[in-house]
Amino acid sequence: MNVHAPALANAHLPDEQTSAFARDVIAGLSQQPKRLSPKYFYDATGSELFEQITRLPEYYPTRTELGILQDCGLEIAATIPEGAALIEFGAGATTKVRLLLKSCAFGSYVPVDISGDFLNGQADVLRKDFPELAVHPVVADFTTPFALPDAIKDMPKVGFFPGSTIGNFEPHEACGFLRSARGILGPGALMIVGADLEKDERMLQDAYNDAAGVTARFNLNLLVRINRELGGNFDVSAFVHRAIYNREQHRIEMHLVSRKSQSARLLGTTFAFRTGESIHTECSYKYSVERFGALARGSGWKVLKTWTDAENLFSVHALVAEA
Ligand code: AVI
Repeated sequence: MNVHAPALANAHLPDEQTSAFARDVIAGLSQQPKRLSPKYFYDATGSELFEQITRLPEYYPTRTELGILQDCGLEIAATIPEGAALIEFGAGATTKVRLLLKSCAFGSYVPVDISGDFLNGQADVLRKDFPELAVHPVVADFTTPFALPDAIKDMPKVGFFPGSTIGNFEPHEACGFLRSARGILGPGALMIVGADLEKDERMLQDAYNDAAGVTARFNLNLLVRINRELGGNFDVSAFVHRAIYNREQHRIEMHLVSRKSQSARLLGTTFAFRTGESIHTECSYKYSVERFGALARGSGWKVLKTWTDAENLFSVHALVAEA
């Protein structure tokens, strides 16, 4: 699974990505148990629903991470060399990066995202609000190696990966991503990463089973997207959203569960579903501070400092690349 996360607002996929979407969907629905990648949640509707999720009373991660970035801004700034370039892996809403740009003296900002239109729109807004800042957007899949702009080559580099998007990777993929980021940013780089913490199960269940049903619509929208973009004939009303906490694996799992015995046809293939059979659509891993530290160390980084909120719901880590 590889994730572009909430960064893909309003993406219009070029043909090559549409066929990757088709291939991934066919392959995922042919597996037992059936799977779909969470990276496909974020069409225009999915991105809008995700924005709504971030404002739900039950969904604590976004507001808690914002609180940490705000309250600990000076301490975070103290770890960052003056005039550094800030490289954001995935460019979502600019709310979080604005907090960093306000508290730290960055010379350049490099948002990296696969959706060029979205990226350039965000870059224009930031240029207006931070006229001293050089903004160099890079259109690339941030989960694979890409080249940084020449303009920042002599600047110290600071990566930024907020939102606990790292939790949507399988642990070996999270390790691969951190290793690749280290290679891209180079020796001596820093990385600021947000990671959701393990906590009371009830609170986790509620965050992914909100009373207003927004997360359910977000999950089900994946079938709506498959019908629209790939010509599928899923009866969306015959599936229900389910989110459960898997304690052994330290992760929330989201599923789409078939309400009845049925089949759906897609690109010439028929997929059968038993009553109660699920399509596993997302994992959201929750880390303790210690387990995140071990992940970072195993990926070529050392934890310089960790900040959490007073209730220990969310963590922000400053990592430094090991020599
Ligand atoms: C983007 N990501 C960190 C969210 C999460 O919490 O794993 C996606 C999400 N899925 C359901 N609600 C939010």
